[in-house]
Amino acid sequence: MNKPSRTRSRERADIVIVNAEELLTLAESSLKPRTGKQMSELEIIRDGAIAIREGKIVAVGKTRDVTKAFRGEVVLNAKGKIVLPGFVDPHTHLVFAGSREDEFQMRVQGTSYMDILNSGGGILKTVKDTRRAGVERLVELGLERLDGMLSHGTTTVEAKSGYGLTTEDEMKILEATRRLNHLHCNKIVSTFLGAHAVPPEFRNNVEEYVNLIVEETMPKVTQHGLAEFCDVFCERGTFNLEQAKRVLASGKRQGLKPKIHADQMSMLGGAEIAADVGAVSAEHLNFSSAEGVKAIARKGVIAVLLPAAAFNQMTGKYADARLMIDCDVPVALGTDFNAGCWVENMQLVIAMACHFMRMTPAEAVTAATINAAHAVCRAGEVGSLEVGKRADVTILDAPNHKFLGYSFGVNLVDKVIANGRLVIDREEREEQVFMSRTE
Ligand code: NIG
Ligand code: FE
Repeated sequence: MNKPSRTRSRERADIVIVNAEELLTLAESSLKPRTGKQMSELEIIRDGAIAIREGKIVAVGKTRDVTKAFRGEVVLNAKGKIVLPGFVDPHTHLVFAGSREDEFQMRVQGTSYMDILNSGGGILKTVKDTRRAGVERLVELGLERLDGMLSHGTTTVEAKSGYGLTTEDEMKILEATRRLNHLHCNKIVSTFLGAHAVPPEFRNNVEEYVNLIVEETMPKVTQHGLAEFCDVFCERGTFNLEQAKRVLASGKRQGLKPKIHADQMSMLGGAEIAADVGAVSAEHLNFSSAEGVKAIARKGVIAVLLPAAAFNQMTGKYADARLMIDCDVPVALGTDFNAGCWVENMQLVIAMACHFMRMTPAEAVTAATINAAHAVCRAGEVGSLEVGKRADVTILDAPNHKFLGYSFGVNLVDKVIANGRLVIDREEREEQVFMSRTE
């Protein structure tokens, strides 16, 4: 008589992903962002697998080990593919109405971004459009954009306000952001950017507008728990160093963590201000001085670099990522999706980081996942594939991680799992591919 073999019963999982060519875990960097050489270490498991239950990661390892311990209701075969954490986009201006393709044409023909802003266009054009829109319309638009980001593998998105510039309109944008967080599987992190531009009503009195932000708008925003971070666009023609410092210091006192748009168009000293106020992140940094870079390195401020915005600016000037990595500044990458820079795709941002800032694909992956999670204070929950973290996983149709950046202008996403649910599946598009074949 054959004795039944005694196999240990396997635990149930909702989804098990198996046979990944490379499983990029980015493990053990939840407490501190990666810097210097660590940015190149992705903690790769070859022939990797991951088990997911009730929205969380329950196992990560070699396929044979994970499948010995877990039985998946759904098993996804990642043979020939790579598996990595869902991208974290730590800098977007997600919620606004209207678009600015006419200005894009003017910029192509040589008018500068700041000239357009100073003549009432740019951010101020979008402010006009957004003030006219209701919260429902803003939510509708936000959902479409979040779908676009998700389909490119992004599962966490920071969203800045800043196209309202009155207390009421800023609150409206932040309310739309709050609803989006409930309505969409992308996780949203909210930033108050009342100091995005000087509204026409305060054109000759910037100080008065700063008073309004810190004395009226900010208290309302925090009272309703509508934002976690506070940001300021520090630039000639918007807010100077003193004003930026005042906004951020006041935000900090009111419970908002500081971020800053720094040295985007000129070397103003925004990086130094970020270090001074102990900002979580300094963003853009295209024109930062070496002293500025060293100052943020000393304070552990994360550099959120936005090469797609620099590309869109057409100045040819990109942040000095190599200097930053050499100086042990933790570097993150974001899209800077906004009304003047319409890009939802973190894979393209990775490609631009490699081409224009000479980051390696591995460094860029670190910057777009765990370091970006640190930049929005979510590294305990997302940004790496580790047991206990939110099951946000992207599967890319690429044989290894070096394909990122090497391949550009194509969406490599095969599948996306957000909060433990399979939400994007390329197989559903296969029908169309079939139709395109003539034989
Ligand atoms: O990050 N520089 C300021 N803010 C945005 C642009 C917003 C806009 O042009 O509408 C940025 O590039
Ligand atoms: Fe921005």
